[in-house]
Amino acid sequence: MKKLKAAVNCMDKRSHINREIYGHFSEHLGRCIYKGIYVGEDSPIPNTKGVRNDVIKAFKEIKMPVLRWPGGCFADEYHWMDGIGEKSLRKKMINTHWGHVTEDNSFGTHEFFDLCEELECEPYLAGNLGSGTVKELADWIEYITFDGDSPMADLRRKNGREKAWKLKYLGIGNESWGCGGNMRPEYYADLYRRYETYCVNFSGNELFKVACGPNANDYNWTDKLLESVKDYHANAISLHYYTIPTGDWNKKGAALSFSDEEYYKTISSTLFMEELIEKHAAVIRKHSDRIKLIVDEWGCWYDVEEGTNPGFLYQQNTMRDAVVAAINLNIFNAHSDIVCMANLAQAVNVLQALLLTEGEKMVKTPTYHIFDMWKTHQDADLIYSFCENESADGIPVVSQSASLSKNGSITLTYCNASLSEDLEIDCDILGMKPLSAKAQILTGEVHTCNDFEDGERIIPREHKVTVTGRGISFALPRCSCVSIVISQ
Ligand code: AHR
Repeated sequence: MKKLKAAVNCMDKRSHINREIYGHFSEHLGRCIYKGIYVGEDSPIPNTKGVRNDVIKAFKEIKMPVLRWPGGCFADEYHWMDGIGEKSLRKKMINTHWGHVTEDNSFGTHEFFDLCEELECEPYLAGNLGSGTVKELADWIEYITFDGDSPMADLRRKNGREKAWKLKYLGIGNESWGCGGNMRPEYYADLYRRYETYCVNFSGNELFKVACGPNANDYNWTDKLLESVKDYHANAISLHYYTIPTGDWNKKGAALSFSDEEYYKTISSTLFMEELIEKHAAVIRKHSDRIKLIVDEWGCWYDVEEGTNPGFLYQQNTMRDAVVAAINLNIFNAHSDIVCMANLAQAVNVLQALLLTEGEKMVKTPTYHIFDMWKTHQDADLIYSFCENESADGIPVVSQSASLSKNGSITLTYCNASLSEDLEIDCDILGMKPLSAKAQILTGEVHTCNDFEDGERIIPREHKVTVTGRGISFALPRCSCVSIVISQ
């Protein structure tokens, strides 16, 4: 087994890892909201105010810090007033982006904010700039956050919510370069400035405004947008980048059956996230020292599972997805000086989901377990870390990250993307005398998934770590992800 040297320095703090980097995304798409998260109060599936109890419990376990809603492309055709008030009277609509199914609006603003309160997570709204009006968005903010007497606050009270909610994160438009209106950056920037002017801070609420940023490597969009949208207009811009194994949107590759070659292409495609962040960060910094980057859609996007509705984007999730999640979270940690939030697409039953449901059954995917194993990075400080690397198929296989929590413990997260080489890591720790180390490992044959027959093929298991005079050592087998919490 090859030994690699590594080191971390607890005295060398780099940046704060916002807990929102471990965030999620739920869209009215396929079975994400309906059947996935929300089943309605009359469902035989155990629920709290219509939200599945098993899903609430699973979200709480990973300390879900933020949830984006209602889209996605859906956000720019969503009219929030259709989703409030007596459910049987709510207006129906066609979900034109996702399968042309009828949306009955039974999950709306109150249901979403109640869920966020239950989860103790930040709501992140995607406002409709594509087909909505400035007044509609301004009214939504008033409805949610104003605690005095006003038409919107009174309507909220009439609908059963006395106290105003807090809303921090507000996106203004989604993929305005695509499904959100096919705009050019200059045109979107002007519209953004107009819309955000009327998104007012009421009753002590402070909005963190997010402008629609680029599609993947469209650096021109970032540049043109920021030429116009300055510090006083926006707190952050978004970035969307999906990992597509073949790189071809028309034939993306299957979730369960893939060759070694396709696997390594997937890893190489996901590693591109680092270059994207660095290059967009350079453009942002040319214009502003303050504006942050939010990767509010990321994850693997495969061909839909055979026999499922193509508009529902349902896909299985294997050990490959766990490796992709581990690599991306380590990249976001490494760039937490500029990346203040990231949202995996999507939370349940859609794309690289955390959870899959079928009737009353629910399964945690390998990706879910990475969020669980990585959660002690939330709200910690990134510290300097280094590890020697190996390569397979021309790509570096080791990804790692280290952080120091407020309670003085450190978290190390490692991933070995190689399909053939087992490694051993010998890690020096500076600035701390480790007394105890607890580790978990997620590993398995790369095509293995959890499903409704066996939901526990890939689950975290205890892993052996040896505390040495200088630090720690541990095995990092092929296709594995390891998290270690070290205390003194
Ligand atoms: O996550 C699925 C879709 O991908 C979103 O609706 C859209 O924003 C992106 O194109």
